[in-house]
This record gives sequence, structure tokens and C-alpha cells, in this order.
Amino acid sequence: MSDDSTQTPQAGADTGRLPGDRGEPLTILIDDVPVGCFAGETVAVALLADGVREFSRRGGEPRMPLCNMGTCFECGVVIDGVPLVRSCLTVVADGMTVRTSRS
Ligand code: FES
Repeated sequence: MSDDSTQTPQAGADTGRLPGDRGEPLTILIDDVPVGCFAGETVAVALLADGVREFSRRGGEPRMPLCNMGTCFECGVVIDGVPLVRSCLTVVADGMTVRTSRS
């Protein structure tokens, strides 16, 4: 949901990330929109930093990460065509495609 999401985020900039050293800048596609992130981050971090607050819907209700350790499945998204992948356990890769329930 960044307005200039095609640009690489700067550490400490208004990206939702804490300041500090970051990994290599990468780009993933979130709902067909290029979004900058950093190597080593999880998909959940990239989504949250981009302002995504609805990862999926269950029972008509929006879902987003709850446990952030792989047990609740609330962070499930479609990654590279595979449904219900736990984004809190999946590390970003350059060119990865992520689909949320927004698309
Ligand atoms: S946030 Fe609970 S499994 Fe990912």
C-alpha cells in the first residue's frame, strides 16, 4: 500500500521497520504491486511494513498474523501460487509473488 512501492525502502525511513542494518534490498510482488523489502525478512514483515492489514479472510473476517511463530495459521497467504503458506515462516525471495485476500 505504499505509494512509491517500486522503490527500495531505506532503513529507518517511514517503512514500518525499525532502524538498523538490513539485508540486501529485494523486490516482491504483493497483489501484483512491486514492493521493496530486505533479504532475511519474512513475508509477514514485508506485508506489515507495506501496510497490509488483511492477509486473508476466514468466516468473512479479516485475518492477520497472531502468533508469528507458525502455530495459528492466521498469516496464511498465497505465495508463488501455493495457497495457505504461513507468511511468518517464509523468508522473502526476489521476484516472489504474494497474494492476499485483497486481490
Ligand atoms: S502468525 Fe501464526 S502461523 Fe503465522
